[in-house]
Amino acid sequence: MFFRNDLQNKKAVEIKVPRKKTMMCLNESTLDPFSVIKDAFLKKMQNVHLNRYFNPISSSLKKKLANYVGTNTQNLVLGNGADEMLYYIFTAVRNSSEDYAVSLSPSYFDYKSYTSAVGMQIKFLHLDKNFDFNPDKFLEMCNHTNCKLAILCNPNNPTGNLFPKQKLLYIIEKCNKLVLVDETYFEFSGATLQNYVERFPNLILVRSFSKSFSAAGLRFGYAISNQQNIQQLKKVITAFNLSLLTQTFADTILDFREIFLQHTQNVIKLRNEMYESLRQLDGIKVEPSSTNFLAFTAGENSTSLFQYLQENEIAVRDISAHPILKNYLRVSVGTPTENHTFFELEKKFSEGRT
Ligand SMILES: Cc1ncc(COP(=O)(O)O)c(C=O)c1O
Repeated sequence: MFFRNDLQNKKAVEIKVPRKKTMMCLNESTLDPFSVIKDAFLKKMQNVHLNRYFNPISSSLKKKLANYVGTNTQNLVLGNGADEMLYYIFTAVRNSSEDYAVSLSPSYFDYKSYTSAVGMQIKFLHLDKNFDFNPDKFLEMCNHTNCKLAILCNPNNPTGNLFPKQKLLYIIEKCNKLVLVDETYFEFSGATLQNYVERFPNLILVRSFSKSFSAAGLRFGYAISNQQNIQQLKKVITAFNLSLLTQTFADTILDFREIFLQHTQNVIKLRNEMYESLRQLDGIKVEPSSTNFLAFTAGENSTSLFQYLQENEIAVRDISAHPILKNYLRVSVGTPTENHTFFELEKKFSEGRT
């Protein structure tokens, strides 16, 4: 056997989503960032020479990002998407195969995938039907020498809800483990713990350019923490982990950040409209959201609704694996036209059922 024993029973990473004309299943943006930054990006690329490892763009990007976040460059580490940041963090905290992380369930599916990738375990505290949890129970699960990390996704994917700040701070304060708060959807909620990274030595935040900054295919994300934690993470990252192409693209996105943040505001508006209109439909229940997606259900009819949408070239995500999300689907906010088509299909389906 060439590979680690514990990989024998692990499934290879494979994203299984339907590929339809209208993709409303991956919480992607409808704005192609290249269309916004094209000229400036190409101009900038003239000074970026891909035959070289180093380029001043790296420090430019770090400075711009630090300015956007409201922190110092030493408080940041950059990588290929929030996913890679998670991977680095898991790699850096794991000591032995007995070690585990604690997270909530349902939450971002890949916490499980990446902890097992680095040979670590994961335990879950299950959310109640209001998508809430008891912080003391969470702390109890973290209170073991083999617990190396607490993970909280805020706002949470796939439920879409934001946990109260006081609850998160309570956990961070009482927990003597590293606490990772995944703020991938931060710009849609406006809620961040960024101001607390210097106060709490165990706090680390992960963010992404895939959602609000519209660049899922770019693969750019970052972590924010105190300098000591950042230094530890830098021990596990590969040299030149981020391509100069990616860095130049991300740097240019930040030059145009107002356009992306304005787009985010539009998405929030469209999400709220979508929420309000779905709420009016008989037989559909939709959950409030602080993200760019909505979790909704048609009860026992969700499977046929899922099929019906697919037949009409709309892909949404089946998120029904966890008992509290039985029969639930998740839809990403699309363009006004996509949202309209989606709503009309929902309406037709709901009328056909009542
Ligand atoms: C909660 C959460 N964390 C992390 C990620 C990964 O983001 P990225 O595309 O930056 O790797 C996602 C992607 O959907 C997500 O929903």
